[in-house]
Amino acid sequence: GLKIATIGGGSSYTPELIEGFIKCYDELPVSEIWLVDIEEGWEKLNIVGNLAKRMIRKAGLPIDVHLTLDRRAALKDADFVTTQLRVGLLDARVKDERIPLKYGVLGQETNGPGGLFKGLRTIPVILDICKDMEELCPNAWLINFTNPAGMVTEAVLRYSNIDKVVGLCNVPIGMERAVADLLEVEHSRVRIDFAGLNHMVYGLDIYLDGVSVKDRVIEMVTNIENGSTVKNIQGISWEPEFLKALNAIPCYYHNYYYKSREAFEQIRKDAETEGTRAEVVHKLEKELFELYKDPNLDIKPPQLEKRGGAHYSDAAVRLISSIYNDKRDIQPVNTRNNGAIASIPSDSAVEISCIITKDGPKPIAMGDLPFPVRGLVQQIKSFERVAAEAAVTGDRNLAILALTINPLVASDSLAKQIVDEMINAHRKYLPQF
Ligand code: G6P
Ligand code: MN
Ligand code: MN
Repeated sequence: GLKIATIGGGSSYTPELIEGFIKCYDELPVSEIWLVDIEEGWEKLNIVGNLAKRMIRKAGLPIDVHLTLDRRAALKDADFVTTQLRVGLLDARVKDERIPLKYGVLGQETNGPGGLFKGLRTIPVILDICKDMEELCPNAWLINFTNPAGMVTEAVLRYSNIDKVVGLCNVPIGMERAVADLLEVEHSRVRIDFAGLNHMVYGLDIYLDGVSVKDRVIEMVTNIENGSTVKNIQGISWEPEFLKALNAIPCYYHNYYYKSREAFEQIRKDAETEGTRAEVVHKLEKELFELYKDPNLDIKPPQLEKRGGAHYSDAAVRLISSIYNDKRDIQPVNTRNNGAIASIPSDSAVEISCIITKDGPKPIAMGDLPFPVRGLVQQIKSFERVAAEAAVTGDRNLAILALTINPLVASDSLAKQIVDEMINAHRKYLPQF
């Protein structure tokens, strides 16, 4: 059977993943799941790990769940390594979300300064895991969920010797489901041609049973009030004029760029009233772990769906199964561009519809991105790439450059102030600076 190593195993999302493996067991014979965490996470790891064991026992499957602080033991001979760690935990996310607000800049975990600093903290840790993988499980696939997933995939491709890496996000799957709901059809009948970057992905075309329905969907989307399916983002209704002329479907995270003012105001207001998203998530997690402790609970509790990453196991397990079974089905993932999008360097990470084979994702050629979206995507790619270099080198100048390139920060002086304050605030998790 297969050995899975999950780093950040103490995450509240673990039951999501376990549910996926249980549902998929017939086609994906997993025999061992190793949940790894760090010392500080030991208590959470035990609580959620024991729930995982109960879920598997209930399903009556011969899967062994190991709970460990020993990452190397977990990685040894693994077939798939999944990463769902959060460097600095939610406290660091609170800082990413709060500090930029003082400067009138959006505070969000994967965009703008928050995205930069989450990347600076996370990339060295992921590259360290890659080094261990080279030694302990050189044939394994790294399936990364840790945000910023696009920047992390870029860094792994550029700065590690691991090529078997796939970055994963539930946003594209959520878009397909949202379109299916809109059309009132089974979601398996809907397919979207995705192209762009993580949290910056566009639906370039939409098919129902293989026939393009993009025009119809754009017509419908411009007529509904609330098109959101991910719970962490408010419903967005685009101006019909804008969307029709754009002629592609933006993702929910695009509201930070195409509705910057409203998004900033909303986030600022939320921070003052109910707290930032990290603070809300902190409360949600407390509730979840209370539930997880119940020795009679042996399923994934529905409350987990209040998290933005709800249903991410669908994306994860279906990807792992398609690699293992050489399914050659189409899935949107983060992978090396390889020329599929002409306007992005071949050796950069993109989020794109791919054929999933036993040799990994093969991106489907999309040609050039449509002219109206090309510039923003390229600019964010520059941001990600400079940020990844800053993470590896610890070069403050590059961090300031990255943030200045980012469209959410309007000046180099502002970028410098924010970078300096955030380097200080996150010092403990930025040994390279
Ligand atoms: C979406 C994104 C994930 C992100 C999550 C945040 O699902 O695709 O990348 O981690 O939202 O959700 P949260 O509940 O932590 O705000
Ligand atoms: Mn995501
Ligand atoms: Mn800028």
